[in-house]
Amino acid sequence: MEKKITVLPGDGIGPEVVASAVKVLQVIGKRYNHTFHLGYAAIGGAAIDQFNNPLPDETIAMCEESDAVLLGAVGGPKWDNNPPELRPEKGLLKIRKHFDLFANLRPVKAFPSLLASSPLKREVAENVDLMIVRELTGGIYFGEPRKKTNEAAVDTCVYSRREIERIVENAFELARLRRGKLCSVDKANVLDTSRLWREIVEEKKFQYPDVEVEHNLVDSVAMKLITNPGQYDVVVTENMFGDILSDEASVITGSLGVLPSASIRGDQFGLYEPVHGSAPEIAGQGAANPAATILSVAMMLQYSFGLKEEAAEIERAVNAVFEDGYYTADLARHHDRVLTTDEWTDKVLNEI
Ligand code: NAI
Ligand code: MG
Repeated sequence: MEKKITVLPGDGIGPEVVASAVKVLQVIGKRYNHTFHLGYAAIGGAAIDQFNNPLPDETIAMCEESDAVLLGAVGGPKWDNNPPELRPEKGLLKIRKHFDLFANLRPVKAFPSLLASSPLKREVAENVDLMIVRELTGGIYFGEPRKKTNEAAVDTCVYSRREIERIVENAFELARLRRGKLCSVDKANVLDTSRLWREIVEEKKFQYPDVEVEHNLVDSVAMKLITNPGQYDVVVTENMFGDILSDEASVITGSLGVLPSASIRGDQFGLYEPVHGSAPEIAGQGAANPAATILSVAMMLQYSFGLKEEAAEIERAVNAVFEDGYYTADLARHHDRVLTTDEWTDKVLNEI
């Protein structure tokens, strides 16, 4: 197989973790006989410094020519006082919007060897294997009108039928590929957008008789993610609820440094990135955990290229290195073998 991938290293630890993930991608290519053509482009703070634009046209053009995009992370104190249009995060929002990446997939899976780092009891966290599917391009973050004065402020939550249908379909398809359970999260006792959401899930479920569906209110799910996260398979929800719940879910298994994500749109194209940010305070020290970005490459192989075996091999290798007791500094509190980013990456490469 031959694929074109645009690589956007970004800021802080972004370039370090992306370099690790690219090495893994290349070793997978060699072992399974695939050619991955990589092109590098700028986004975020790096792009502001170079082009005075967090998402330059050249970057968009390169992504448009590609089958998938791998992103590190953006942001840092250097740009915190910039005007809104010249902030690194703007680059992220724009790329998601430009490519209409309406579905954000965040799998949360317990690595047995990392459970000591979880804030939850081992018996609560150990069976977790869930996927949050967050709607990414609609809802209150984008709704008009919006306005702020000193005395009052307005934000508007808007969802069209089509916007809800496509994310719900996506979630049903994912549930079908996993354990066949879907939890739809809303606030239908209060919000009209949630009532429409719930109606559409009820309509769609007849096309997926093999998927078991339940509706749940967001406040209740916030609680159950802590008390019994093992009950969930696929959880689908709108933009703001998903933002909050996915951050909550991200701590269940112990570390931000191991969580990948995908932003997709129902065809083969996708943007893959770690859940964590640019961690500027540890940048350049070889202290970054590259696992989240490496696992994001596994998601790319699976969801954009249909390479399931290759994706599973990456997950197996990452798990094996943890099982052997090798960790980067973020996870090393309970262990003694602390490796740098590059040393840890080499363990994964050897394992593959
Ligand atoms: P962060 O995720 O960068 O860091 C949170 C904590 O986790 C820090 O203690 C950091 O050292 C640690 N951490 C994160 N990733 C790690 C890794 N791979 N290995 C080891 N330790 C890791 O979030 P924070 O501190 O809130 O934001 C820092 C910057 O990143 C800000 O400028 C923020 O805007 C940006 N950010 C960017 C995101 C993105 O590009 N998608 C997402 C979240 C934040
Ligand atoms: Mg967030």
